[in-house]
Amino acid sequence: MHSMLTAQEASMSETQTAGLTLRAGRAEDAETCGSICYEAFKAIADQHNFPPDFPSSEVAGGLITSLLSRSGEIYSVVAEVDGRVVGSNFLWENGTIAGVGPITIDPSAQNAAVGRRLMEDVLQRAQERGIAGVRLCQASYHNRSLALYNKLGFDTREPLSNLQGEAMEQEIPGYAVRLATEEDLEGCNEVCFKVHGHARGPELLEAIRRGTATVVEHGGRITGYTTTVGFFGHTVGESNEELKALIGAAPAFPGPGFLLPTRNSEVLRWCLEQGLRVVQPMALMSLGLYNEPRGAFMPSVLY
Ligand SMILES: CC(C)(COP(=O)(O)OP(=O)(O)OC[C@H]1O[C@@H](n2cnc3c(N)ncnc32)[C@H](O)[C@@H]1OP(=O)(O)O)[C@@H](O)C(=O)NCCC(=O)NCCS
Repeated sequence: MHSMLTAQEASMSETQTAGLTLRAGRAEDAETCGSICYEAFKAIADQHNFPPDFPSSEVAGGLITSLLSRSGEIYSVVAEVDGRVVGSNFLWENGTIAGVGPITIDPSAQNAAVGRRLMEDVLQRAQERGIAGVRLCQASYHNRSLALYNKLGFDTREPLSNLQGEAMEQEIPGYAVRLATEEDLEGCNEVCFKVHGHARGPELLEAIRRGTATVVEHGGRITGYTTTVGFFGHTVGESNEELKALIGAAPAFPGPGFLLPTRNSEVLRWCLEQGLRVVQPMALMSLGLYNEPRGAFMPSVLY
């Protein structure tokens, strides 16, 4: 992986933010960090006339509560300046690749190196754990996050279109979609491995147990799956037909919607023809291991 930080760079950021301390997140941080998460995304979205990623402080708080309760698989870090919580960041570290986010800083404390320190902290953590690669999705209209991640070593890999709309109730002939079961894990992992060069078994298993994962079968075998066609779900398929079948069968697109690689013009055009709307542009960024996908895919908002 890209070397994270020299001692000199680390001490530079230390001096830039006097009074800053970083610590592990605690359950009682959920309300404050949830409120910061909501306000931080809303402030930047409002400035650009985009809808906020979270509809309310309560929804953001609910997400942060759940992240803080999963310390075995999600690493958390909270920033305090002079004892006041000003931001938080998370590393989803239960796979070959780790996802970063949400990272949010109180709007009144932004642009003062807190975000950099919170990013450096999770990258340090990933390095210590020997994680092969780290990824995230970035709001393309946000110049500051783009600049920060780029300077930290992230490469922009894929422009994404966040799509939302009514469930399509569309079937693709020859591509049958059904609920996934635990017996499908191996077949699904094989597809993911074929497309990405690594599997995402733990996330998939969790989605199967939650009842949101579906598989698509073609020619008598599993050729694609989704954990959910939505902001926090990922999807892979051997071709665009699998993607269309999974999107077409989805009962709804939870959160702000799903993330389709914009360069997949065929599926984007098909989605638009089915009446979906583009919510916002985003970008998939990576640091460390990244294999150019060999098939069709849609990342979650983490990667
Ligand atoms: C994105 C966010 C986490 C960054 O945290 P922050 O504390 O505001 O940012 P920092 O001050 O640590 O770093 C910003 C860096 O970008 C640079 N930067 C900011 N705007 C820039 C621009 N337009 N062009 C070039 N560089 C720019 C700064 O100079 C700084 O660089 P440095 O680290 O080399 O000094 C924070 O602004 C935030 O919470 N935003 C709203 C929520 C959000 O978008 N989260 C990210 C989701 S992917």
